[in-house]
Amino acid sequence: MADHAFVTLATNDSYARGAMVLGKSLRNNNTSKKLVALIGPQVSEPCQSVLKRIFDEVKVVDVLDSGDTAHLAMMKRPDLGVTFTKLHCWTLTRYSKCVFMDADTMVLSNIDELFDREELSAAPDPGWPDCFNSGVFVFRPSVETYGKLLEYSTEHGSFDGGDQGVLNGFFSDWATADISKHLPFIYNLSSISIYTYLPAFKQYGGNAKVVHFLGKTKPWSYTFDPKAKQISGSVQEATTHPSFLLDWWTLYASAVVPMLQQQYGDQPFHSGCVEFQHSDMVTSENVQGESSASHPQELQTRLSSEERKEQWEQGQADYMGMDSFDNIKRKLDTFLK
Ligand code: UDP
Ligand code: GLC
Ligand code: MN
Repeated sequence: MADHAFVTLATNDSYARGAMVLGKSLRNNNTSKKLVALIGPQVSEPCQSVLKRIFDEVKVVDVLDSGDTAHLAMMKRPDLGVTFTKLHCWTLTRYSKCVFMDADTMVLSNIDELFDREELSAAPDPGWPDCFNSGVFVFRPSVETYGKLLEYSTEHGSFDGGDQGVLNGFFSDWATADISKHLPFIYNLSSISIYTYLPAFKQYGGNAKVVHFLGKTKPWSYTFDPKAKQISGSVQEATTHPSFLLDWWTLYASAVVPMLQQQYGDQPFHSGCVEFQHSDMVTSENVQGESSASHPQELQTRLSSEERKEQWEQGQADYMGMDSFDNIKRKLDTFLK
C-alpha cells in the first residue's frame, strides 16, 4: 500500500544506527509498506546515505525539545526532551495511515496487520499499564491533529517531559474507550519486562513480533565481537534478553556495517558508528590523555596489553575500570577529532 508507512525517528547517529537495523528488520520480514525516517539535521552525511538506501523517504525535521528538565529528571532520562520531535510524524500527510516505531525497536516477524487498526492504537506501557507506550503506535497523519498536539503540549506540557506524556494526555481515553486500540504486548515487548515478569516471558515471549530495547542502555551501548558472535558491555546493568541483543547485533553487523563501511570509505567509520574489534580495545596506550605515569598506584595492578587482550577474549573486560564507558567514549572522541 503506497499510502501506508512505517515511520521512525533519529536525531543523532546513534539512534540512526538503531533506525537502520529497524528498517532492515522490516524489509527482511517482507513488509509491503513504505518506510520513512524522520531525522534531525545533526545526523551525519554517511549515516544519512545509509538511511536513504534502506528507507523510501528520509525527511529532515526540526528538532523539538520539551526542555522540561524537571520531569525528565524524574525518569532519569535527561536526554528524552527531544522525543517531542516525534510529533512531526503527524505531518506526513501523503500517507493515510502510519505505524510509528522507536529507533530502538526491532521487528521479528511481519507486522503489516497493524494497519488494520485505528488511531491511536498502542500497547500498554510496562511501567504503568493504564498508559500506552509510545514506542509503537498506529496513527493517521493530519495537519489538524498535529496543530492540536502542539497546542496541547504548549498548554499542558508533558507529565514525563517526553512525547509519551503528551500523547497519553492527548489520547486520554485510550485506557478505557476501545479495547481494539490496545495492541497486544507482543507488538511492543519491552525488553525490561523480561526481567520484571520472567514466567510470562517464558510463556508468551516466543510469540513476540517486536522487541523494544527500552531504557537507558541500548543495543549500541554494548560492544560486539562479530567473529565470536559475543556481546560485551556494561553487563552488570544488562536489561535486555541476550538473544534479542544478539539478533540486533547480528543484523547490524551483517547488513548495516557493510553499508556504513562503503559510506565511510577509508576513514575509520567508528567515528560515527561504534564497531569494536579487539585491535580497537581501549588501552592505556591509545586513550589520549590517559598516561600511565599519571596514576602511579595503578601501575602495579595494570595488566599488559597482551593480558588485557586475553581477558577481553574471555569476555572479562574491566567494565568498571579501564574499559569503562567513559574511557570508551574518550577513545571515540579521539576518532571524532
Ligand atoms: N530519539 C532520538 N534521539 C534522542 C532520543 C530519542 O532520535 O536523542 C528518538 C528515537 O526514535 C528513540 C525515541 O526517540 O527510539 C524514544 O527514545 P528512547 O527509545 O531512548 O526512549 P525509551 O524507549 O528508552 O524510553
Ligand atoms: C517512553 C517510550 C518512548 C518515549 C519516552 C518519553 O518510555 O518508550 O518512546 O519517547 O517514554 O516520553
Ligand atoms: Mn524506545
